[in-house]
Amino acid sequence: MKKLTDSIRLRHGAQLTNRIVQPPMKTFSGLKKGFNSQETLDYYQRRSQSAAMIIAEYHYVSPEGGPANRLGSPEQLAAFSDDYLPGLKELAKRIKSKGNKAILQIHHSGYQAHQRASEGLPVYGVSAVDLDFLDHEIVPLSIEQIKQIVKDFGQATKRAIKAGFDGVEIHGANHYLIQQFFSKNTNYRKDQYGGSLENRMRFALEVTDEVTRVAKDFGPEDFIVGYRISPEEIHGQDIGYNAEEARELVAALQPYELDYLHLSLWGSYDSKPKDSQQTFSEIFQPVLDEETLLVLVGGVFDADSAQRALDYTDLVAIGRGTLIEPDFALKISQGRPEFINSHISKEILTDLAWPTGLYEAFTSPRSTLPPIPGMQEMLKELQ
Ligand SMILES: Cc1cc2nc3c(=O)[nH]c(=O)nc-3n(C[C@H](O)[C@H](O)[C@H](O)COP(=O)(O)O)c2cc1C
Repeated sequence: MKKLTDSIRLRHGAQLTNRIVQPPMKTFSGLKKGFNSQETLDYYQRRSQSAAMIIAEYHYVSPEGGPANRLGSPEQLAAFSDDYLPGLKELAKRIKSKGNKAILQIHHSGYQAHQRASEGLPVYGVSAVDLDFLDHEIVPLSIEQIKQIVKDFGQATKRAIKAGFDGVEIHGANHYLIQQFFSKNTNYRKDQYGGSLENRMRFALEVTDEVTRVAKDFGPEDFIVGYRISPEEIHGQDIGYNAEEARELVAALQPYELDYLHLSLWGSYDSKPKDSQQTFSEIFQPVLDEETLLVLVGGVFDADSAQRALDYTDLVAIGRGTLIEPDFALKISQGRPEFINSHISKEILTDLAWPTGLYEAFTSPRSTLPPIPGMQEMLKELQ
C-alpha cells in the first residue's frame, strides 16, 4: 500500500522525500513589473517543509504574456527576462532551504493578460473571439509570435535552471494560453494551429518539446519537467474539449518523457466528468507510461484524506491545506498528523506568513477563490 511517507524517485532521478506536493498558488504579492517582494519570499520560506515538492505560482514567460491580474492589484510574478534572475534565485533558495524540491510554474496568460488591457496595450490570444466575460478585444497571434512564445518558454526554463530551481511545470491548464489553443471555444484558427485535434494540440507539443530540450541541454540530469492540464473544458453547452480529447493530448505528450502529469481539479481528487462512471484518475492513468507520475489535487486538508487520495494518484497536491498548514509534510514525517491545522483561526493567522494581497483576495466580498475552512468564523471573531 502506498504511504504518504514513501520516498519516491522521479524518472530523471530526482528524489522526493514523501508523496506530498504543494501545487502552484498565486500569492498576490508581486511588485510592479512582476518582481517578487519580501512578502513573497517570507511566504515561501514559511512553506519550506510543506511538501516534498513545492511548485511556485505561475510566472509569465513573455512580455505580452501577462500580468493576468487586474490593474491595481498586486502583480503576477514574471520570468521573461534575466532582470528576474536575482529574485528567482532568492525564491528557489527559500523554497529549498529545508529540503523541499523547488519547481517553477511557467505560463502565458493569452487573452487573460487583463492588466495590459487596462493599460491600453494589445492583448494577444489564439483567435479574435468575442467572449461574454471579457471587456477587451483579443488580437490573434501571428505565426512569428507563436514561434517566439515557444522559445520564451524555453528561455524561462533556462532561467529556472540558472536560478537553482529543481524543475519547471508547464501551465497547460485553467484557461490560459496553452489551453486556449487546445479549446474549440477559443481557437478558430485556419492555419496549422487550429481546426483538427492534431492542430489544436500543436502549440502544447511545441512548448513541451522546447522545454524538455532546454532541460536536457542545460539542466542537471535529474531536472524535473511536469505538465499541468485541466482534464476537460465544459461550461454548460460550451464544450471546449472533453476528457477524451484531453487524454489524447496527454498520450501525445508521452514521447517527451515528463516526470509528472498534474491534473488541475477544483472539486476533489476523486472527481469524475459529468455522467461518467470513471474518475479522472481512471481516465488518464492508462495513457501515462510507467515512469510518468500522476499528481492529483483537490480538497485535501488533513492526513487521512491525503492518504485516501493515494488510492487514485502517485503524488497528492495540497493547495489550500498548505495555506492553512505550512508544516503539512513536516508534521506527517514527524508522526504528528493529528497536529495538522485544517481550519484557519485567529490564533494561527500570523504564523501563516500570508501576503496582505492573499488575505485580501480571500476575504474580499467579490472573491472568486474557493473557500478556506474556518474563514467565516474567524472573520466574525475579528470583527
Ligand atoms: C489562491 C490560489 C491561487 C492559485 N494560483 C494558481 C496558479 O498560480 N497556478 C495554477 O495552476 N493553479 C493555481 N491555483 C489552483 C491550485 O493549484 C489548486 O489546483 C486548487 O487550489 C485546488 O486545490 P485545493 O483544493 O487543495 O486548494 C490557485 C488556487 C488558489 C486557491
